[in-house]
Amino acid sequence: MYKIFDSVEEAAYYTAQRLFSKIQAMPAAVLGLATGSTMKPVYSQLLQLLDENPVDLSQLCTYNLDEYIGLSAQHPQSYNYYMYEYLFSKLNLPPQNTHLPDGLISDCEAVCQAYSHAIASQGGLDLQLLGIGSNGHIGFNEPYTCFNSRTHVVELSEQTRIDNGRFFDDQSEMPTHAITMGIKDILEAKEIILMATGRNKAEIMAQLFMSPIDEALPASALKKHRNLTIVLDREAAALLPEQALKSVI
Ligand code: GLP
Repeated sequence: MYKIFDSVEEAAYYTAQRLFSKIQAMPAAVLGLATGSTMKPVYSQLLQLLDENPVDLSQLCTYNLDEYIGLSAQHPQSYNYYMYEYLFSKLNLPPQNTHLPDGLISDCEAVCQAYSHAIASQGGLDLQLLGIGSNGHIGFNEPYTCFNSRTHVVELSEQTRIDNGRFFDDQSEMPTHAITMGIKDILEAKEIILMATGRNKAEIMAQLFMSPIDEALPASALKKHRNLTIVLDREAAALLPEQALKSVI
């Protein structure tokens, strides 16, 4: 199902509401969280909703999608830092209930397996939030990642290093590898919300709309999912074919 909004704020509010409703209805929900600029207004609206309608968060549990290899949790561009900065430091959520992959791992295989296993042992993700890379990646599952993948270490594509390198003071600091939840882990979530905003996401959203399910476009795996909502603002929806827009709104 597509939801298309006039502005980024409205799109973010819809997504924040969905997260808030899930937390209200299921105080022990397991949430899959995402980072990136798309999620900043979502988290800020979620904080506002929780501020106005306090909910007991003591049983809520979160798992983030990914982290750069080589960055500590204190590095301002690490996803651990992002989550602390934009959400966790402002929420009354027990720190032991929040999970992100560790960017400074040494025994990669064991750590990756343990991450997917931890999610499954909690009964899986109740709601997974996703952004999308301009090359169609979800988490850091780059094009041609196997749809059966579990948490793994990935070499970042040239496109991703260019896209995300702009956030680093010096482009050469941009990591070459990351650890990401796998596509199978993501697809096992009971509900998925993919959100994209801005003109720079219009091409990939049009490609995704047209694409068959194909490992060349990781986000196309989501077409197999029975409870997927794609949340867009007008700009990200700008290149969807006219007839598609009519049928999805
Ligand atoms: C990174 C993350 C993705 C995210 C993407 C989009 O690459 N690994 O999970 O979806 O960025 O980021 P933005 O929202 O900044 O466009």
